[in-house]
Amino acid sequence: SWTTGNVIEEQVEAIRAQVGTKRAICGLSGGVDSAVAAALVQKAIGSQLTCVYVDHGLMRKGETEQVEKDFVAATGVQLKVVDAQERFLSALAGVSDPETKRKIIGREFIRVFEQAQAEIVAEGAADGEDVAFLVQGTLYPDIVESGGGTGTANIKSHHNVGGLPEDLEFELVEPLRQLFKDEVRMVGQELGLPAEIVQRQPFPGPGLGIRIVGEVTQERLELLREADAIAREELTAAGLDAEIWQCPVVLLADVRSVGVQGDGRTYGHPIVLRPVSSEDAMTADWTRMPYDVLARISTRITNEVRDVNRVVLDVTSKPPGTIEWE
Ligand code: XMP
Repeated sequence: SWTTGNVIEEQVEAIRAQVGTKRAICGLSGGVDSAVAAALVQKAIGSQLTCVYVDHGLMRKGETEQVEKDFVAATGVQLKVVDAQERFLSALAGVSDPETKRKIIGREFIRVFEQAQAEIVAEGAADGEDVAFLVQGTLYPDIVESGGGTGTANIKSHHNVGGLPEDLEFELVEPLRQLFKDEVRMVGQELGLPAEIVQRQPFPGPGLGIRIVGEVTQERLELLREADAIAREELTAAGLDAEIWQCPVVLLADVRSVGVQGDGRTYGHPIVLRPVSSEDAMTADWTRMPYDVLARISTRITNEVRDVNRVVLDVTSKPPGTIEWE
């Protein structure tokens, strides 16, 4: 019968048989799937695995630290963190169009990842072992959605920020390809990953870059990061994390509105709260969440976040609205 223990044992053996004495790399996104895949492969082949985390500077508060500290502490994995914040910010400078932003982020991500990959491959050559495998957190629904498992790198571009390069020179290791999300969470928990990683709600690969309506700048990122952290803190405190599928917090950087704070007029930006309920993100409804929680979030954001003088609630279902604003 199905138990997480069996799945782990079976996959550890299969990974060992597949990889042998060669080396593998795995890109970590901060999401559940890549984290659990990496932890499983780490359990199987230990130091033959190197993980790569590209810090594009578009993560939420505490997320990079979660990967750098908590994930490494829980798994003992070898991690290469590439600080690419400057690179992404300059590539995004002056860009407001959503699709252009997504393309730029996807492109830069692939470039940085490939560069890190080349460095790891070069290190592998030094100790005589090839890096021959790329670990992917592909789940069963991903395979079904992308038209059947062919064993090739056929991942939705949605899924991995920008998709994989066409001329992939690696064989894929996909230890989660028979599992659904809830099973992956159970496996992750059994492997000792922290709840903050295992129970994580969906978060888009392009990160906060597509939650700033307007140009992405360092200052705006900091502002949004603060507002988002407050919303998440209050939602968690109210025990709403399981009920809400996800709650994007969006900065309308190109919009200003008049406010009054203390004894002065302000001219600031609105923050949008977009709590949604969903089964699979294909359709969604706005979550009828308690007014008192909304009130606390609103009060705290307008008090604590500079330049924000208004908090608005998005009451649109999907369709017609998408979950994200861009
Ligand atoms: P939309 O906005 O299309 O979002 O209703 C559906 C779900 O997908 C997430 N999302 C993404 N995830 N890369 C991802 O990994 C992306 O580029 C991306 N865009 C949207 C979104 O957060 C929601 O869960």
